[in-house]
Amino acid sequence: MSTLNILVLHGPNLNLLGLREPEIYGATTLKDINTRLEKEAKILGVSLHCFQSNHEGALVDQIQAALGKFSGILINPAAYTHTSVALRDALAAVNLPTVEVHLSNIHQRETFRHHSYIAPIAVGQICGFGAESYYLGLRALVNHIRAR
Ligand code: DQA
Repeated sequence: MSTLNILVLHGPNLNLLGLREPEIYGATTLKDINTRLEKEAKILGVSLHCFQSNHEGALVDQIQAALGKFSGILINPAAYTHTSVALRDALAAVNLPTVEVHLSNIHQRETFRHHSYIAPIAVGQICGFGAESYYLGLRALVNHIRAR
């Protein structure tokens, strides 16, 4: 079995995790999350590339460049979840299995966070478990790819 390569994308303001509204997002930093994801990836026998941007176009570029290099995408689109047709179209275009994750439970929060442009083209969405949403999401994505 060849090693799966997973692209992990973090959207805007997630570089501020740890500082940013800790009562909602917790104390874990993005560096902590990426370090733990690397550990989980080793256990699962996959390799990871993690990328964060505050810019929609930079995320679109990463998604387009994923074609032929990655087997799946784990994404926390952050605020772009609720606004970005461009991210959704890029994900639909490359057609790689995608799992959407959120630290907070977006369905329990303001109504503008209830809608996701990404969810309809994702394999699934995991939210509300804090940083754990990412680790669950990685496992779910890898299991999904391996079961295909
Ligand atoms: C978030 C939820 C979004 O609504 C918000 O804009 C974020 C973070 C989360 O991980 O809980 O930036 O994606």
